[in-house]
Amino acid sequence: MTFRTRALTAALTLALGISSAIAAPIELKFSHVVADNTPKGQMANHFKKLVDERLKGQVEVKVYPSSQLFGDGKELEAMLLGDVQMIAPSLSKFQKYTDQLQIFDLPFLFNDMAAVDRFQQGKEGQAMLGSLEKYGLVGLGYLHNGMKQISASNPLKTPADAKGKKFRIQTSDVLAAQFEAIHAVPVKKPFAEVFTLLQTKAIDGQENTWSNIYSQKFFEVQPYITETNHGVLDYLIVTNAEFWNGLPDNVRSELKKALDESVTFGNKIAAEKDSEDKTAIFASGKSQLITLTDAERNQWVEAMKPVWKQFEGAIGKELIDAAVAANQ
Ligand code: LMR
Repeated sequence: MTFRTRALTAALTLALGISSAIAAPIELKFSHVVADNTPKGQMANHFKKLVDERLKGQVEVKVYPSSQLFGDGKELEAMLLGDVQMIAPSLSKFQKYTDQLQIFDLPFLFNDMAAVDRFQQGKEGQAMLGSLEKYGLVGLGYLHNGMKQISASNPLKTPADAKGKKFRIQTSDVLAAQFEAIHAVPVKKPFAEVFTLLQTKAIDGQENTWSNIYSQKFFEVQPYITETNHGVLDYLIVTNAEFWNGLPDNVRSELKKALDESVTFGNKIAAEKDSEDKTAIFASGKSQLITLTDAERNQWVEAMKPVWKQFEGAIGKELIDAAVAANQ
């Protein structure tokens, strides 16, 4: 071996050694369907910030908001294929995988977000985090958005006002049954399509939180919003089991810690946005708030509550009883 080839070999060995010592950071793509200025958007960005600070060079979080990477019809499949490492779909979007999580869609089950929180943090709520294990998914925690309201092109005071009208719903049979119970027509559509469907009057209304109605500008194309607080829209943060369990222990525990802190941060934003976004919607003058009297609200409760019985077999009576108990 000449000096020249020896030197070249030495240089190559050194270069290879160095490149394997400086391993590329683990990429963690976090995809979601809402805007940045929402509880989920803010939580994801906060998580990225904490991971950048604490795991610099080891993990790189890339956040993709507003269905930029995957829409809500595709994100769970993409996760199972390993194309995305973290998502936080609404609890209504897991029907294909588990019956239990459908409990969150039962109309008029929870009195308020405090009750939702008590149920999620209780024994039953925590056990449900593991309900997707057989599909290779790990439930990392819940995140709040808020209670849902119903917007429409006509004022909805009683269920009779919704008769025959088309309402966009998330992909949940419980939500379909809820609108069928008031003789309306549920239409399952992805979140990214809702504004256009409302604007073009292909549908008459939709149900969502104040945050989503505001950030998606639904209020600009829906002249009436009835404050029903009839259901909850929260999220389950999930990751791919193979990815998660394959992480070095210290990285996994740092990520979980950063995520838990980000959820606390996101929940605080959710509570603030709920009232701020409601105020902003009606300050715009583009939509009118319909407030129900107790008697009117009771009509919605009476009409929709039979849906509980319809799904009791699939969800489990004990689980429903535990959720009801969380109201106290
Ligand atoms: C919806 O589809 O209405 C929501 O689940 C969107 C979201 O992620 O908040």
